Amino acid sequence: MISAKGLVLGSATWSLLDTCPEDSPLVVQLFGSEKRYISQAMQMLLQKGFRFFDLNAGCAVRKVTKTGAGAALLREPDKLLDLAGEMVRGAGPGRVGVKLRTGWDQDSQAFLQVAHGLQELQAGWVSLHPRTARQGFSGQAQWSRLKELQESVALPVIGSGDLFTARQALDCLQQTGVQGVMFARGALAHPGIFQELKDLLCRARDEVQEQDLDSEQRLLQIKSIALEHIWLSRKYSRQPRAFFKMRTVLPKYLKGVRQARELRSRIVACRDWEELEYLVQWI
Ligand SMILES: Cc1cc2nc3c(=O)[nH]c(=O)nc-3n(C[C@H](O)[C@H](O)[C@H](O)COP(=O)(O)O)c2cc1C
Repeated sequence: MISAKGLVLGSATWSLLDTCPEDSPLVVQLFGSEKRYISQAMQMLLQKGFRFFDLNAGCAVRKVTKTGAGAALLREPDKLLDLAGEMVRGAGPGRVGVKLRTGWDQDSQAFLQVAHGLQELQAGWVSLHPRTARQGFSGQAQWSRLKELQESVALPVIGSGDLFTARQALDCLQQTGVQGVMFARGALAHPGIFQELKDLLCRARDEVQEQDLDSEQRLLQIKSIALEHIWLSRKYSRQPRAFFKMRTVLPKYLKGVRQARELRSRIVACRDWEELEYLVQWI
């Protein structure tokens, strides 16, 4: 989460963006409320080679919301969409996501409206922490909202909120149908949680016979195999032809996958491993 204004005016430390090729796919999250800074920061980041971006509309910390940024944008859905649209114009369709809470408070829950707007703008994904900004971290994250959102938009939804164990994350994926999950406090307490979830997903894949897989498990299985396949190809072959080969293999994995046709056409047109890995996230 980096201040767009800070990047433009030079006060935010650019070292927050230090990275290495293994950080792939990499998404830079910006926060801000002024279009000119968002736009200029995007130009600078694109020039430096960053490709995927996120807009923070979920941070409820007063220091951020009092400037109109973070979750305060949920009070102004049109402005939020204007900023996100500016980012999509810079980065290209499918390369920008937005992190949301359900709304500012109980009486103004704009997340569905915003997500539909994002879909029209050709955003690539939407992340939701299903609490209001006023709630901060109190109460419980409402996973039912995640399900509601994933069922109402074609965009991939990343679910966040009260996922403190890998098991809870797997339950959340299976119960809500979201296409990804995000760990925050759980990862601070247990940094191995990401690997644990990967292991759980692999085990689910290995243990269950193919004919017993329900469709949700099957999608998780396909995704996990596709990511492993890419990882192995990248590790063992540095030849460009390995990449082109993978571009022809992966579309075959997509039988029965949501929006397979669109995903296939994006996979065959993609330009590098990073983009390929990114697209597979949305199986
Ligand atoms: C220490 C900390 C830092 C966070 N930083 C960010 C951030 O930079 N961007 C963001 O979108 N959300 C951020 N969040 C919010 C989380 O992404 C997440 O939505 C929220 O904490 C709920 O998930 P959890 O129950 O797993 O903590 C942060 C949360 C914590 C606790």
